[in-house]
Amino acid sequence: EITQVAARMVLDSRGNPTVEAEVALVGGARGRAIVPSGASTGKFEAVELRDGGPTYGGKGVSKAIANVNGPIAGAVIGYDARQQRLLDRAMISLDDTQDKSRLGANAMLSVSLAAARAAANASRLPLTSYLGGVNATLLPVPMMNVINGGVHASNNLDMQEFMLVPHGAVTFREALQWGVQTYAALKAELAAQSLSTTVGDEGGFAPNLHSHQEALELLVKAIEKAGLRPGIDVSLALDPASTEFFREGHYVLKGEDKSLTPDEMVDYYAQLVDAFPIVSIEDPMAEEDWEGWKIFTQRLRGKIQIVGDDIFVTNPRRLERGFKESVADSILIKLNQIGTLTETLETMELARSHGYSTVISHRSGETEDTFIADLAVATGAGQIKTGAPARSDRVAKYNQLLRIEAMLGEGARFIDWVKRGK
Ligand code: PGA
Ligand code: ZN
Repeated sequence: EITQVAARMVLDSRGNPTVEAEVALVGGARGRAIVPSGASTGKFEAVELRDGGPTYGGKGVSKAIANVNGPIAGAVIGYDARQQRLLDRAMISLDDTQDKSRLGANAMLSVSLAAARAAANASRLPLTSYLGGVNATLLPVPMMNVINGGVHASNNLDMQEFMLVPHGAVTFREALQWGVQTYAALKAELAAQSLSTTVGDEGGFAPNLHSHQEALELLVKAIEKAGLRPGIDVSLALDPASTEFFREGHYVLKGEDKSLTPDEMVDYYAQLVDAFPIVSIEDPMAEEDWEGWKIFTQRLRGKIQIVGDDIFVTNPRRLERGFKESVADSILIKLNQIGTLTETLETMELARSHGYSTVISHRSGETEDTFIADLAVATGAGQIKTGAPARSDRVAKYNQLLRIEAMLGEGARFIDWVKRGK
């Protein structure tokens, strides 16, 4: 039973304020959670409540914190923390908006996750086992964002994320090792070409390059230099986050001096997929370009995994439209896009029931909180996207996955979804 709920401000990896909540139970068990924050946020995400005004450039969270300490605490104190669904529903009713704009998705999520942790602690179970039970044994294939562009860096790459997918490994720790080796080889290669090795928001390098093609060539070279086989051991994935460069019906690639129609943009991707070992592309088309998304899906389904992030925003209603219109075949899962653990789990269940794969994801503004690592194993998602093997906000998740893998011992599984088909 919940006896206490309290929130405070802490900082995220960009130095912006965010919400940390603590939930205490009868008997003394406690749980704590911190919410992350995006930069290339989808327009249809649940509302992240910010103070506005001059302090912290308008990004203060004192209103969200007051909502936790006041109305949310009032609504959830007395609930059994194991009744996650009831507790989340209580917050949803209290908020009573479609987009969680009254209480703030940041306020609600902090309590939702802290309550889950408190319940796990009270049950004396690791969070993974508490959420997933004895069948939670599948470690996710990481998607490691090692070249950053778009709004996550100040270089000239329009596409936001170039990722390594070490799917051919036998265990998670081997996959991580391959990612780390390739990251190191990439750094050496950039240095050898006198390109910048400073990093962007998600820990990937952020060099100025002539084209996206050049970024992909560098990655293939790095995989080979690391002694690995591109396309077999380690493949590539992209998150262009294309909404960010969609202007009046055109995809504007400033770095390459191109302005493309949706059809031309699909051709552009198809050429990259033919030329490089790309296994997954997220948000190739903009969040409001459903027609473009349909063209893309028709053209590339079966060749690569097609992941919807900004277009679905972890929202079951948007995902349903995706099914109806045959858009994408996979969904990116971000807890703070929808705002409660219960709704996140429901969206994942819905995705699976339609054969869509699920990729658990961090945000570009992260913290030391590792909830998503446990969530990935608990739900058997099979894939996680949580940055480069650099910066503690990213590495914390990989380290937690290493702990979970060790805890599972011989029971831990790792599946090459590329080879097996998802
Ligand atoms: P964001 O980026 O956290 O800045 O929204 C991550 C993504 O687009 O997947
Ligand atoms: Zn994305």
